[in-house]
Parts: sequence; structure tokens; C-alpha cells
Amino acid sequence: MADERTLVLVKPDGVQRALVGDVISRLERRGLHLVGLKLLLIDRALAERHYAEHREKPFFGDLVGFITSSPVVAMVWEGPGAVAMVRSMMGATDPANAAPGTIRGDHAVSIGANVVHGSDSVSRAAEEVALFFEPGELVEWTSAQAAWLH
Ligand code: RTP
Ligand code: MG
Repeated sequence: MADERTLVLVKPDGVQRALVGDVISRLERRGLHLVGLKLLLIDRALAERHYAEHREKPFFGDLVGFITSSPVVAMVWEGPGAVAMVRSMMGATDPANAAPGTIRGDHAVSIGANVVHGSDSVSRAAEEVALFFEPGELVEWTSAQAAWLH
């Protein structure tokens, strides 16, 4: 399986509920590795670009309002099949349908406040990473630096 990069956001509810560490811990323990990390307040323009696919949906206004409401943690995680792996670890969009053991299945009850975002395809992941990070903010692990990476 080829190495992939994917964008993960701990959404405003996850940051406020002190779930940042839990999300990071799960992804670390799984064996993915971190290549970028920041805390930021998403502005309206970035939110509208990030969620552009949902522009015509009835929930778009609430979605943009929520993701801009307080700080989020944005991360780039790398590893074999990382995009689909993170999606499976997040669980279903609606936490009512999210399996126990997933992030949403363990921590959320509301479709609006569902703790995390993960890119849903390899191509979208590349676009989302570029929306949130400058190239210089991402680390290229060398084999020498990666002696303990798994
Ligand atoms: P995300 O983009 O945040 O990772 O979530 P997702 O792929 O699992 O779900 P997506 O279909 O992309 O929807 C983005 C976010 O919009 C909210 N949503 N509300 N009220 C509704 O019917 C509805 N549907 C989606 C959710 O917060 C979802 O995470
Ligand atoms: Mg999505």
C-alpha cells in the first residue's frame, strides 16, 4: 500500500472537550506518523473552500458557522493507505451510526458536532493539505530521522 497523506481536523467540539490528545494518540498508536500540526481559528473564506462540496446543502450555513466558531487542530498524517484508514477510525458521519471503537462512536452523539474531519479521497486530501499548510510547514521524514518510526 502506497504512503498517503491525509488532513485531519479536531473540530471545535473536540478541542473544547479536550479530545485532541485522544485523537492524536489513536492515530499514533495505529502507526501513522505526523507530518504537520497547528492550532488555528478557521476564517469564513477557508471554511467555504474546505467545505465547497456542500455549498448547496441545507446544512452548509450551520457547517461553516460551526467550524469557524472556535479553534481547531489541523494535522497531516502519513502512512500506507492513510486516507481510508483515518476514515475508518473516525466512524460514520452521523455518530448515531458510528461503530463503538471509532472516534465518533466513542465520543459523539450529534451529526453537527462529530469531533473530527478526515479527507475522503487521496485527491481531496492533497487539496485539503494545501488549503491548511504551506509546503514549508510539513516535515519530510528522512530515513535517518525515521529510525523509530513504525
Ligand atoms: P467531514 O467532512 O467533517 O470529515 O465529515 P464527513 O466526510 O463524514 O461528512 P460530509 O458528508 O463531508 O459532511 C461534512 C459535515 O457536515 C455535517 N453534516 N450535517 N445535517 C446533516 O444532514 C449533515 N450532513 C453532514 C457533519 O458535521 C459532517 O461532518
Ligand atoms: Mg467530508
